[in-house]
Amino acid sequence: MQKPILISGIQSSGRAHIGNYLGMLKNAVDLQNTGRYQCYYFIADLHSITEDFNPKEKSKQILETTADCLAAGLDPKKSALFLQSQVPSHSELTWILNTITPMGELRRMTQYKEKIATGGESENVGLFDYPVLMAADILLYDAKFVPVGNDQLQHLEFTRTLARKFNSKFGKTFIEPEALLTETPRVMSLLDPNKKMSKSQPETCLFLDDSPDVIRNKVKRAVTDSGAEVQYDPAAKPGISNLLSMYSALSGEPIKKIEAEFTGKNYGHFKAMFAEVVISHFAEFRKRKKSLMRKPNKLRTILLIGSKKASRVAMLKMRSVQKNVGIAV
Ligand code: AMP
Ligand code: TRP
Repeated sequence: MQKPILISGIQSSGRAHIGNYLGMLKNAVDLQNTGRYQCYYFIADLHSITEDFNPKEKSKQILETTADCLAAGLDPKKSALFLQSQVPSHSELTWILNTITPMGELRRMTQYKEKIATGGESENVGLFDYPVLMAADILLYDAKFVPVGNDQLQHLEFTRTLARKFNSKFGKTFIEPEALLTETPRVMSLLDPNKKMSKSQPETCLFLDDSPDVIRNKVKRAVTDSGAEVQYDPAAKPGISNLLSMYSALSGEPIKKIEAEFTGKNYGHFKAMFAEVVISHFAEFRKRKKSLMRKPNKLRTILLIGSKKASRVAMLKMRSVQKNVGIAV
């Protein structure tokens, strides 16, 4: 029996942060290592260019995101690790899916609304169409599971709707994917615990390759709450609760146990310990990433090999899509 297929993407829009790691990347590595799935992971460069970017920096960002994935434990021997733009079927399927996508559904997407509300992004068609490209990414591979953070759930639901619509119009072609969430599906900003940690605001992120000094400083400056007790209470103490859930996810200790360890101790003491947990957890990562960044050609080769592997699967699927739509002559 064929193993179930699993896919996920990460945008090449900056260094990976602890939200990416605890929401998706760590899970992607753990799922890969179970050996129970056929895994496809990719760098979503086409998604990343829907936001303002510097063309001179882009290829470096792609390689850096690749290094982030590898340093975190994605293994090209176990998973296909590829570059979205090197598999043209993603763009081809997007076009076909566009023709069955109601504009109204895209207008409702929270991520789109947030991005245009800040006024920071030009309201380009790519930004609007972002969820359709994401649906194509997933449906092309008959993926059953998609490890993502909770900010992507609406896009996943949209993907399922689109798959159903396509199937009912053109005959059974796609399967409906399911999201896989972690215990920390939404890591919050260090400076505003009511907002999610996001690459678009680097000052609010703990990056996986931050140096020990930078980590200590950022954690020291992280916003905490009134009161003094180290207690998990997301409504009343969103700042300390955010740090507690990261602490628990990295150390593997239940939150209750960590609370007990810090009874009678203040926020400062807890933060100092938390910083050390982060520093030691990512010590190996920092070393691996540094060494990978010195070998850009190795990174390019890994992507090319992965992209070839993904292309074969994607092209076959495209062929059946074209047949079902009736454009294969
Ligand atoms: P991105 O960098 O936006 O491509 O995100 C890559 C993955 O990380 C996606 O699965 C996101 O849902 C996840 N992710 C991004 N930010 C966070 C966050 N603050 N907390 C949890 N997961 C996140
Ligand atoms: N939109 C996702 C994000 O920003 C990245 C992504 C693109 C993705 N295509 C995907 C994730 C397909 C899972 C499956 O985080």
